[in-house]
Amino acid sequence: MIQITNVHKIFNSGKPNQVNAVNGINLKIKTEEFLVIVGANGSGKTTLLDLVAGSISPTSGNIIVDDKDVTKLPDYKRSKWIARVFQNPMSGTASDLSILDNFRLATIRTRPKGLSIGINETFKNQVKEKISTLGLGLENKIEQQMGTLSGGQRQALTLLMSVMDNCKVLLLDEPTAALDPRSAEVVMRTAEELIRDYRLTAILITHNLKDAYTYGNRIILMGEGQIQKDLDAGEKGALKQNDLFDWFS
Ligand SMILES: Nc1ncnc2c1ncn2[C@@H]1O[C@H](COP(=O)(O)OP(=O)(O)OP(=O)(O)O)[C@@H](O)[C@H]1O
Ligand SMILES: [Mg+2]
Repeated sequence: MIQITNVHKIFNSGKPNQVNAVNGINLKIKTEEFLVIVGANGSGKTTLLDLVAGSISPTSGNIIVDDKDVTKLPDYKRSKWIARVFQNPMSGTASDLSILDNFRLATIRTRPKGLSIGINETFKNQVKEKISTLGLGLENKIEQQMGTLSGGQRQALTLLMSVMDNCKVLLLDEPTAALDPRSAEVVMRTAEELIRDYRLTAILITHNLKDAYTYGNRIILMGEGQIQKDLDAGEKGALKQNDLFDWFS
């Protein structure tokens, strides 16, 4: 459960360029809920995700994740259980390293200090098996450098890597914006499967209204740092894709 209470984020406070990016948000996201966020450019979506991830802290208000007040907890201390995928396929992985080494790094990141990760066949096979679920044939290329893969391939792998054993929350900020339609579908399908299989609580920001319509079991519309609409699973289910377009007209 993620509970966001009276959260404000003001940038450049008191200056002429002050921005109230998040302006008094109250939001309770249930465990295993898959929340979709839509809204115009600059409406505060990424800022809200940054606040949940801990890469920025709120000007006021508080954020609780599973009964733990994380308001002042920096992102690296949340990263064990909060995974994040960005719009840019380059930002999630190390280009110079092989797929296998990237998986090794991702595994180390979420393990307690001192626990070594064997560079053995077992680990290799686990990685291969995991990658094969993507259906992209990448399990045969685990020694290949990450930088040589397409954006869609990288993004799918980033997703897979980010969801390690302790992960409880998955934050997706326009993960398919830089991808062609086919790759975008692979990435979204992978995300949906991981969210289901790992029973994650997830937040997806998207400008793709078809994805907003297709995925998730709750949808909110953000505008000027506030929640303007909030539809639960039943209401979202009854929504037509055209209704979503109307939200923006
Ligand atoms: N670090 C920052 N310093 C100053 N202003 C910022 C900062 N980060 C975001 N903002 C401002 O806060 C507002 C909300 O930005 P945010 O990135 O959250 O919007 P968004 O809804 O994610 O937009 P988009 O759909 O374009 O990604 C914008 O006006 C933006 O310029
Ligand atoms: Mg954004």
